[in-house]
Amino acid sequence: MSDVISVKNVTKWYIQKKVTKQNGKTSKKQTIKAVDGVTFSLQKGETLGVIGESGCGKSTLGKLLIALEDPTTGDILINGTSTKELIKKDRLAFRRMVQMIFQNPFDTFDPRYTIYKVFMSALELHNIGKDKEEREKIIVDTLEKGGLVPAADYLARYPHELSGGQLQRISILRSMLLNPLFLVADEPVSMLDVSIRADIINMLQELTTKKDTTLVFISHDIATTRYISQKVAVMYLGRIVEMGLTDEVLHNPQHPYTKVLISNCASLDPLEKREIIHIEGEPPTPINNGPGCYFAPRCYKACERCFKEYPEFTDLGNGHIASCFNLMDKKE
Ligand SMILES: Nc1ncnc2c1ncn2[C@@H]1O[C@H](COP(=O)(O)OP(=O)(O)O)[C@@H](O)[C@H]1O
Ligand SMILES: [Mg+2]
Repeated sequence: MSDVISVKNVTKWYIQKKVTKQNGKTSKKQTIKAVDGVTFSLQKGETLGVIGESGCGKSTLGKLLIALEDPTTGDILINGTSTKELIKKDRLAFRRMVQMIFQNPFDTFDPRYTIYKVFMSALELHNIGKDKEEREKIIVDTLEKGGLVPAADYLARYPHELSGGQLQRISILRSMLLNPLFLVADEPVSMLDVSIRADIINMLQELTTKKDTTLVFISHDIATTRYISQKVAVMYLGRIVEMGLTDEVLHNPQHPYTKVLISNCASLDPLEKREIIHIEGEPPTPINNGPGCYFAPRCYKACERCFKEYPEFTDLGNGHIASCFNLMDKKE
């Protein structure tokens, strides 16, 4: 089966001016490597969870995937064609192909648009439905199937008149209405009340499963990610350090950083006895990383080599990969 999305060694570097005054006039630039050499591919209907601490590049990766940001180097292909080419050929068709759900649904919508107008303008723009009447029927059906019943109660409202949960439902429904090939959900429930999170995740899962949509689910919450994702990628300072089938990575983590993340996740499996691994230091920022493994300064297993070179991925079988010298040494 061919890949719906293929990410090839993608980087995103931001140049930041950092003015350091020395003798009255020295200005320096620093490079923030938000995404630093990411490679993976997904087939139709696959779900990938992307986890990692705040600042590790999850949102930047999400924006690169739907071409809200251009990669500094590397390439992203959708159904075998680079996103750059797809956009050049037909920007509107590309926008329909890839959709993104953002963390804060209040930022997603124009505050001057009623919910009716939100949907109507999307349908008109993408030429879905033959006339106003058919489009109105589609809108009412979509809202009601999405649990917003009766639809008439929602249509005339503005975003600020709805709750975060209702608005996030609307955001998901609108994205899925366009029948995208590929959807990125960036921490879609982390700003919502805990009591409604599961309902929204279920809705997202039902809709994407029904339409066989490829999904990248970004979250710092491992328990939620496990629930919705078949595969999981663990990011640290712009790089994937471990990836594989969710069950395998979470039950048999191999990278020291994945072990730390999992050991600190109390909600993952309260019955399982786990040793909690503490790590020293704050998560660093992705500026001026040394030549070695980016996790080495905080790693409880780091040896001399880890500070000198970056470890390649070790193939652990069944698509499970991790980049750590300890694993390479074990295999050799
Ligand atoms: N537009 C930008 N300009 C400069 N730095 C940025 C920009 N966007 C993100 N960054 C930096 O890139 C890194 C990754 O950010 P982000 O992708 O938002 O991480 P996450 O979503 O995992 O919290 C952070 O250090 C962040 O400060
Ligand atoms: Mg983010």
